[in-house]
This record gives sequence, C-alpha cells and structure tokens, in this order.
Amino acid sequence: MSKIIIAIDGFSSTGKSTIAKQLANALDYIYVDTGAMYRAVAYFALKRNLIGDDFFKEDELVNRLEDISIKFKFNKAVGFAEVYLNGINIEADIRTLRVSKFVSPVATLSAVRSKLVEQQQLMGKDKGIVMDGRDIGTVVFPDAELKIFMTASAETRAKRRYKELLDRGHKLSYEDVLENVTTRDHIDSTREDSPLVKAEDAIEIDNSDLTIKAQLKTIINLANQRI
Ligand code: C5P
Repeated sequence: MSKIIIAIDGFSSTGKSTIAKQLANALDYIYVDTGAMYRAVAYFALKRNLIGDDFFKEDELVNRLEDISIKFKFNKAVGFAEVYLNGINIEADIRTLRVSKFVSPVATLSAVRSKLVEQQQLMGKDKGIVMDGRDIGTVVFPDAELKIFMTASAETRAKRRYKELLDRGHKLSYEDVLENVTTRDHIDSTREDSPLVKAEDAIEIDNSDLTIKAQLKTIINLANQRI
C-alpha cells in the first residue's frame, strides 16, 4: 500500500487537530500540528519580550530565529507528539489565550514562515503524514494526494475553543475567545504571505453539525481511494 500526504487546512478551532490526530492513528501515519510550531515561535517572542500588547520587535525576532529549535516527541500517555522548544516541553504553555493573541501577527512574518515550512516539508518527505494548518495544501504540500478544508460557523468554533480552555482550567470569557477566533481568522486570511485560502483541489467539510466519528469516516474513505 502506498503512503500519501493528507493536508488539513481551515479556520481557527474547526477541530482540525482532533480529526488529524485520530486519522493519523487510524492510518498509522505521523501527525504534525503546524499551528503548534507557530505558537512555539510566538511563545519564544513573548518570553524574550519581543512582542507585547503595544509593541512587536519584528526585526529582532527575525534575527533570533536561529536560536529557535522546534521538535516533536511522541508521548505514549497522551497518544500524540508534543512540542518542544529548545529541548523544553511547551505543549501546555502554547495553548493559552495570550499565545493565541500573538501567534497570528508572528505568523505574518515571511522569515518565520520559510523557516517552519522548510522543516514541515522535511517531515513529510517520506509521506505517510497528516499535517494540519492554514497553508498545507496551498504552500507546504501543493501536491498532497488528499486536501481537506474544514469550516464551521465562528460561534460554533468559539464555543468549542471556550469549552476546551475551560476544561483545561483557564479562566476567561466566551466573548474573549470569540474575539480571538475572529481576529485570528481575519489576520490569517488577509496576510500577504501564504494567506489562509482553500486550495482549488481541496474538499470542503463544514463540520458545524457533524460528529467526529462521521467526519473521520468520510476522510478515511477519501484517503482509502487514494492509497
Ligand atoms: O492551528 P492553530 O490554531 O494552533 O494555529 C495558530 C496560529 O498559527 C494560526 O491562527 C495562524 O496564525 C498560524 N498558523 C499559520 N500557518 C499554519 C498553521 C498555523 O499561519 N500552517
């Protein structure tokens, strides 16, 4: 059986990573969460005071990109690969609303994108990979055998993200989460470099009213047709 590349793109909190993780497990493929990589860079910038509520030292961040090493290590206990920044597990640290607030401005920088895209392309060189993000089917793997574009209404997505963050013990309001989701979508879809757009050959799935099981079944069928 041949191995393929599955690219899953879409707006914030469309449940891409939930599906991508389960899909990778079902097919025995590697799963790569590229959002975690952009979040890791934003986390680095926040820690080093290169970005904050009213400033962004873009040039300094670009000059320090060499100091950033992002790796994934599979954690059996949770069943997926966690992200490490310079050897330290930052999986929980990058999921805060604060990192979510600064990640999209950081992800507009071409120098950041080209560094991460190069690493992502290397990770997928042997195929057998499910990668989710915003530009996987358009920029990272334009020749991916299967491209999915996930959508859902902004309210559905904000509700999901709000519940997820509450479950993790974060204290925040639904309005703040909704505002973050819509602001990120706007920045991600209007940036100059690799904006979030549906690839021409991507299959769109609106999952506002679909269970995870139903989505998984559809995508596994599509994958099997291409393997
Ligand atoms: O997927 P997640 O919501 O964790 O992504 C966080 C942010 O990282 C996105 O809002 C976007 O700004 C950026 N991103 C990107 N390209 C990708 C993946 C994520 O620009 N391939």
